[in-house]
Amino acid sequence: MDKVAVVTGAAGGMGRAIVARLMADGLHVVGLDVDAAGLSDMAADGFEGIVTDLMDVAAITRAFEDIGAAHGGVDVLVNNAGICFMSEFPNIPAEEFEQQMQLNFSGAFHCCQAGVKLMMGREGVRKIVNISSNGAYNFDVFDPPHYRASKAALDTLTKDLARRYAKDKIAVNSIAPAMTETPLFDVLSAETLAKAVAQMPHGRAMQPSEIADWVGFLVSPAGDISSGNVIILNQGRDVR
Ligand SMILES: NC(=O)c1ccc[n+]([C@@H]2O[C@H](COP(=O)([O-])OP(=O)(O)OC[C@H]3O[C@@H](n4cnc5c(N)ncnc54)[C@H](O)[C@@H]3O)[C@@H](O)[C@H]2O)c1
Repeated sequence: MDKVAVVTGAAGGMGRAIVARLMADGLHVVGLDVDAAGLSDMAADGFEGIVTDLMDVAAITRAFEDIGAAHGGVDVLVNNAGICFMSEFPNIPAEEFEQQMQLNFSGAFHCCQAGVKLMMGREGVRKIVNISSNGAYNFDVFDPPHYRASKAALDTLTKDLARRYAKDKIAVNSIAPAMTETPLFDVLSAETLAKAVAQMPHGRAMQPSEIADWVGFLVSPAGDISSGNVIILNQGRDVR
């Protein structure tokens, strides 16, 4: 029987590439996203979309209940959904701060809670991959503080769960990419985008498929012995 992977933010730039990679590797993929049209145009054998607002805990609970009922469990969870709000400190509206933390951190937290329960009793080393960001670590780039903090919180969750579930054979890692060409680039002004891409050592942004390949590697048996790591992908930009 195929392994079952849940990918959040499946209809976005990185999400689509991760879904494609995991499907190519033979997993059955369930994509969660608020973008109903995006999910429906991904229709394919081995993929199913569940329209889910990841800022709504009850919706997350329902989605995982449905996945449990349909598939009996989950082998892989990729917490990829995320947004980047660009208001600058100290003029960040309270509501924007809440939404930033809610999707990038709380949504992933609740997916881990529901996902781990469905991983218990499954064969082999199960995997959680959290898509973080270089923004949590590199303070030379543009990222606003609420975005950075949401990803730093996510990486601390990665380490806690890695330790907590090591003996249960649930491996938990973060991947923290820098500039990757997806629709998320639209939140940046042309000037900020050009400057950030120019800082990339290869002179180009990374492609979603390049990040998806690392997710695929962690999900593959080669990834079984990695847990609790934050893997920085940035072409070597921040090495000092
Ligand atoms: N693109 C980059 O340069 C970059 C760099 C570092 C980290 N990241 C991270 O990569 C991840 C994927 O981002 P992307 O670049 O593919 O962006 P994207 O905007 O293309 O995709 C984000 C997806 O999340 C979905 N989403 C938004 N709000 C949602 C909600 N409330 N409920 C469910 N789904 C929701 C969107 O519909 C979209 O499909 C994010 O966590 C982002 O922070 C991106």
